[in-house]
Amino acid sequence: MKVINILGSPRKKGTSARIAEAFTDSVAKHGAEVEHFYLNGLMYRGCQGCEICHSKKDHCILEDDLTPVLEAMRTADVTVFSSPVYYSDISGQFKTFFDRTYSLLDVNYEQETTISSRLPEGKTAIFILTQGDVEEKHTDIIERYRPFFDLHGYALKTIRAAALASGRPDEDVSVAQAEAARMAENLMSIEK
Ligand SMILES: Cc1cc2nc3c(=O)[nH]c(=O)nc-3n(C[C@H](O)[C@H](O)[C@H](O)COP(=O)(O)O)c2cc1C
Repeated sequence: MKVINILGSPRKKGTSARIAEAFTDSVAKHGAEVEHFYLNGLMYRGCQGCEICHSKKDHCILEDDLTPVLEAMRTADVTVFSSPVYYSDISGQFKTFFDRTYSLLDVNYEQETTISSRLPEGKTAIFILTQGDVEEKHTDIIERYRPFFDLHGYALKTIRAAALASGRPDEDVSVAQAEAARMAENLMSIEK
């Protein structure tokens, strides 16, 4: 099984990264191949809206540090997406990356209903969000991004951790880490 871990927080050892790590450590222990992408360390531009990926090409024409990330999404069985909540949304690094996955959609503008994914079927997405506010806040974020996961045919699993002090990347997220490790165990046992 191939797992990719796309980190949307600039804090490499922050709350969302440590929850993602609990998942990837667990799958790796069971023999999965894991690749990590730290978005904040990559140089990339946002989607240019040129639509060339839907007319002349089957991929994004921008060539930058996101190119291998988008390619890895095609072959990964499981993709871990993690982000802190910034101003009631995902981080800017993460949103800019998300927009570029537009090139992984096949859009046929000639026929109204033909939007499909260029990703092969049967993939799982783990979407991790961490926040300073209480649990009841920002519940809309997962719902607002659900169309992305649905369009690409991902089976979506989500993990949230709330009420984390902003200046504390070392906040206790052990409950969410345990949930992530359990999720990993379940996935790997289905695989066997
Ligand atoms: C620029 C910025 C904006 C933030 N905005 C929010 C917010 O709107 N709501 C919230 O609950 N927490 C907010 N936070 C707090 C972070 O979501 C929280 O500290 C989270 O645990 C950080 O995740 P990380 O450790 O993975 O970086 C914000 C933090 C920063 C730095």
